[in-house]
Amino acid sequence: MAYLKHKRILLGITGGIAAYKSADLVRRLREQGADVRVVMTRSACEFITPLTMQALSGRPVHTELLDYSAEAAMGHIELARWCDVVLIAPASANFMARLTHGQADDLLSTLCLAASVPLLLAPAMNQQMWLNPATQDNARLLTSRGITLLGPADGSQACGDTGPGRMLEPGDLIGHLDHVFQTNTLTAKKLVITAGPTREDIDPVRFISNRSSGRMGYAVARAAVEAGAEVVLISGPTSLELPERVFCQQVVTARQMHDAVMNEIRDTDIFIAAAAVADYRCSTIADQKIKKTDAFINLTLEKNPDILGEVASLSPPPFTVGFAAETEALLENARKKLINKKLDMIAANLVGDNRGFESEDNELQIIWKDGNIKLDHAPKEKLARNLVAIIAKHIHEKNSAQTH
Ligand code: C5P
Repeated sequence: MAYLKHKRILLGITGGIAAYKSADLVRRLREQGADVRVVMTRSACEFITPLTMQALSGRPVHTELLDYSAEAAMGHIELARWCDVVLIAPASANFMARLTHGQADDLLSTLCLAASVPLLLAPAMNQQMWLNPATQDNARLLTSRGITLLGPADGSQACGDTGPGRMLEPGDLIGHLDHVFQTNTLTAKKLVITAGPTREDIDPVRFISNRSSGRMGYAVARAAVEAGAEVVLISGPTSLELPERVFCQQVVTARQMHDAVMNEIRDTDIFIAAAAVADYRCSTIADQKIKKTDAFINLTLEKNPDILGEVASLSPPPFTVGFAAETEALLENARKKLINKKLDMIAANLVGDNRGFESEDNELQIIWKDGNIKLDHAPKEKLARNLVAIIAKHIHEKNSAQTH
């Protein structure tokens, strides 16, 4: 149970007596470090109060599709974009039927249609209702569309019957959720990633740096660990919590970052340069604080080593991914960088005007030699997982092309 920390879980609750178990589920998810938002159908509110779920999730509970104030705070589309996974527990026979038909007549059914993340259902109903051919057909159809059904379990039911229809226990549901994030697409691969800004000293108290927060690189490091890779994170100064299960090396200057990367690069399968490395450093660093005497002063700058370019020129190079933060002509500039630096892939985004660097969300254009894909505006963690999945797909295709 190590994959749920910081994960954004949308828990849908539909009408059924098993809804009381969802309260415990939320509590346990929070204990795992997950960020949980609860959406309840009208009939779910007959079994358990939104107030209980609000207290346990620490977030307002969403119940209405057409509520102006709720929609203004976080509407169905934003909720769908926000989450990493949707779990509906309990999922009633009625909800399964509505989902099968693509109905969008309340908040939960609508956001299920709008979400492009894994969707898991934990059915809970009377055993006859579960065994009814209509429910069984719905279950088959939902599964064939890529929706995961968890359970139901067999046993005694609240209505006095015995048979299949019990909702899985919260502990089992958490185990299944954990699995969603444990993709194993980069098992046995070594991945080195740079992140954050670098600092170039001017004098003992001043430095040149940039607005990079390191969030994107750290999110990619986490996503790569979840994909099963052995991850080395070489980070400039940031205020972020160091990711777990990652070997972290903290550096300050571009030259330190360069040396740390070159020390690690042997046997590396994938190199991702997410750091905003200072292109230039001061030729001389003043021993003492520079005094403000003259109206103008000159700083002489000299070029730093291009870490990414150097790694991409190794023979053989690892699978090499660069980032391109641009303020204009995004695709054109990124493609130039891809070709000039001989990269396998580049992740490009626009920066400036509160976009990119200091924000929690971003959007990315992923570009490779003969294709590209746009990753829409989303939290950086989500973009990171998508990026890692795309990298894994390319590596597997490259490997299978080499073996044939
Ligand atoms: O050419 P430009 O610096 O814009 O390229 C950006 C990419 O190159 C980023 O992936 C960044 O991490 C990497 N880079 C580097 N070493 C430098 C400068 C940039 O690895 N000195």
